[in-house]
Amino acid sequence: MEPAFFDVIRERHSVRYYDPTVTISEAELKQMLEEAALAPSSSNLQPWRFLVITDPAEKERLKPIAYGQQQVVDASAVIAVLGDLDSYQNTERIYSSAVEMGYMNEETKNRMVPRNIETYKNLPIEAARGVVLVDGGLVSMQLMLVAKAHGYDTVPMGGYDSVKFKDAFHVPERYVPVMLIAIGKAAREAHPTYRLPIDEITVWNRYE
Ligand SMILES: Cc1cc2nc3c(=O)[nH]c(=O)nc-3n(C[C@H](O)[C@H](O)[C@H](O)COP(=O)(O)O)c2cc1C
Repeated sequence: MEPAFFDVIRERHSVRYYDPTVTISEAELKQMLEEAALAPSSSNLQPWRFLVITDPAEKERLKPIAYGQQQVVDASAVIAVLGDLDSYQNTERIYSSAVEMGYMNEETKNRMVPRNIETYKNLPIEAARGVVLVDGGLVSMQLMLVAKAHGYDTVPMGGYDSVKFKDAFHVPERYVPVMLIAIGKAAREAHPTYRLPIDEITVWNRYE
């Protein structure tokens, strides 16, 4: 039986000790990525790209780049979530597919495609990076919850040298690293973590 959504969000914790004997099939990894990619994105451009690292030798190569974090080696896979700065190039394809599937009418598509291409193509680099980082964050979160619902554990990682990572794994220049996500079965239970009280971090309607 599939776990309840609220159990999944309460029971997800960052796991840093993994059972190195556990493997996840390529089919299941793909299924989890498909489920994660149901996440929303700016203009539905889906700028996320995934580099899935399962080869033990490649994981060993990644370890020093991730400042020696052992989970990179022991987890079944490390998924590098990347953001494509040129994802606007898929606008026509994405919107035409929506028309073919009956999700959007032709006129809307014809109005939106040139406008979106114009907007995204001309974004200043920092704004374009912002877009793919936001969308990449959403897909990353969804992937971690999907993994938990499949019975796996994860840890998101920003602790790595992104320049060295791109170089060592031949990541195309246009892809911005968002984060690494280790995924596998916990060898040691994660500790729960504290959250700030909502009343302290929430304001209603406007700041004074
Ligand atoms: C963007 C990002 C980067 C992170 N980088 C690392 C990391 O490099 N190594 C690590 O062990 N945990 C890392 N974490 C995990 C956080 O420490 C963890 O999410 C936080 O302490 C809350 O704990 P929880 O995930 O168990 O709820 C990162 C989390 C995020 C969101």
